[in-house]
Amino acid sequence: MTLLVVGSAGQLGREMVRAASASRPVVGLSRVDLDVTDAGAVRVAIEAHRPSVVVNGSAWTDVDGCELEPERADLVNARAVGNLAEACTRVGAHLVQVSTDFVFDGTPGPDGVLAPYGEDHPTNPLNVYGASKLAGEEAAGAGATVARTTWLQPADSPGMVGRILAALEGDGPVELLGDRRACPTFIVDLVPVLLQLADERVPGVVHVVNEGVASWAEVGHLVAAEVGADLNRIVSVTETDLGPPRPARRPAYSALDNAALRRLGHPPLRHHRDAVADTVARLRG
Ligand SMILES: NC(=O)c1ccc[n+]([C@@H]2O[C@H](COP(=O)([O-])OP(=O)(O)OC[C@H]3O[C@@H](n4cnc5c(N)ncnc54)[C@H](OP(=O)(O)O)[C@@H]3O)[C@@H](O)[C@H]2O)c1
Repeated sequence: MTLLVVGSAGQLGREMVRAASASRPVVGLSRVDLDVTDAGAVRVAIEAHRPSVVVNGSAWTDVDGCELEPERADLVNARAVGNLAEACTRVGAHLVQVSTDFVFDGTPGPDGVLAPYGEDHPTNPLNVYGASKLAGEEAAGAGATVARTTWLQPADSPGMVGRILAALEGDGPVELLGDRRACPTFIVDLVPVLLQLADERVPGVVHVVNEGVASWAEVGHLVAAEVGADLNRIVSVTETDLGPPRPARRPAYSALDNAALRRLGHPPLRHHRDAVADTVARLRG
């Protein structure tokens, strides 16, 4: 019943190894141990460990970097997933592939309403990163769990909440993006759901996000309220206020709806407001 985590030094991989170790044998392989773009090495590692589940924590997550190097994005985020899928098939392991809200373009559905995207909403990535992750979803194969999530917040390091906290400790305004909205999702809440989906060998695309939709400016208000800071110090800015355009376009709206999870009978993840409060408490120690 071994669970193998590749890309285990990333923020998701680290927490996956830590949390899963409580209930089963876990092997974590970081990029140093296993380069997932090396198909032969992937086959050898998976045949050596013969895991029942492989969780892919590896990805090239530098969205602007991907825009400038599409070949590398495709290699790491798509073709490497094919390597993992093929090796998993050989040993009968279930693959959990993690994907992103950036497969969507931020526009409303056919009814003209902008609402959290369900799994069936048509994809239309605006950037190379999103396109490479969408290709990775296909490369994972029909039997794999493809868990899409958004705006991940780490379990063991400051992340965005920590950066906002640190900024609030100084004086003056704290500028945060207010023109993009999604579902801030806390890895500590995501990992148990991924483990359950893995154990149930759920096939297909499943959205997994904390409840609630927010911009970073709105998250800033939550953090400020939590520490009793003046809410007026949080200043909502737009991407264009922050400087010259970045190489990759981002969707202005990429909230996800956990529709498949509801159908599967999974309880909702807690609201991000509660996860922000817990994170502030953890970081203030
Ligand atoms: N972060 C987010 O907000 C977010 C949002 C939605 C979805 N996701 C998805 O969630 C998953 C986990 O993301 P994360 O935030 O944990 O990313 P992360 O912290 O950047 O971790 C990714 C890990 O993959 C490793 N890696 C890169 N290339 C590799 C290769 N060729 N072979 C093996 N390992 C390799 C990286 O190693 P090095 O550091 O040594 O390169 C890093 O440890 C990804 O699939 C990502 O697309 C993330």
